[in-house]
Amino acid sequence: MPDPFTLADAAAQFIQARTPLRPKIGLVLGSGLGAFADSLSDAVGVPFAEIPNFPCSTAIGHAGRMVVGRAGSVPVAAMQGRVHCYEGYSAQQVTFPIRVFGRMGVGAVILTNAAGGINLSYSQGALVLIRDHINLQGVNPLAGANEDRFGVRFPDMTRAYAPEYRAMAHEEAEKLNIELQEGIYAALLGPSYETPAEIEYLRRIGADLVGMSTVAEVIAARHMNLKVLAISCVTNMAAGILDQPLSHEQVMATGERVKSKFEALLRAVLARVARNVA
Ligand code: HPA
Repeated sequence: MPDPFTLADAAAQFIQARTPLRPKIGLVLGSGLGAFADSLSDAVGVPFAEIPNFPCSTAIGHAGRMVVGRAGSVPVAAMQGRVHCYEGYSAQQVTFPIRVFGRMGVGAVILTNAAGGINLSYSQGALVLIRDHINLQGVNPLAGANEDRFGVRFPDMTRAYAPEYRAMAHEEAEKLNIELQEGIYAALLGPSYETPAEIEYLRRIGADLVGMSTVAEVIAARHMNLKVLAISCVTNMAAGILDQPLSHEQVMATGERVKSKFEALLRAVLARVARNVA
């Protein structure tokens, strides 16, 4: 079995052979948020299943393709959907696309997800910038032998979510009159939603949001020294907060409802971040 670096290189070259564009930014579009990739110009879409070594999504609401195109004038590579550890993939497999972004030469990644709101100041449909995370997935994509060509054995996580990008996102949100809050994202394995007791526990340890993705990707991105911006859409209030059961349908419906606000913010943030990518 070739090493992960060689496998990521092969996938990157496969994608690059399909387009003359050389993306500066990698984008991951979460549950119900994938439509943004359909708005890219000069776009080439490659189904995950065709990309060598790429993990394929099984979740409903995840189209599962990589779209390389321009958002305005900015060349980006956007993943329409992602895979999750709860699907049975290892954290290494889940973060393989981030490795591929790195080998394609992007300098930054923008990650999006659907999340449950724990902080009572949030409401359904709110957009929240992730300031920090708590990894409760029980796995880390860097476990095992370190691949020195990706990064160091013990990467720093103190500024995992680039403060300067967060400042830019807040400025762009303000210009667009879009409310953008900030919070700490706790990642659990899933796929069951949390119990009310688990949500109370997460609140007490300082989490504002809960979800089943993103942190492994952030860890892999920081390992490669890629800068990170991450935005959650609060698709539902977390378990036990409202007197109603949680469902994937509700998560998707909220994603659909806030799509235009979310896309407008993403477009503005992308343009701004692109001017600040190494
Ligand atoms: N919990 C975990 N993951 C989620 C949620 C939730 O409430 N909503 C969207 N993704």
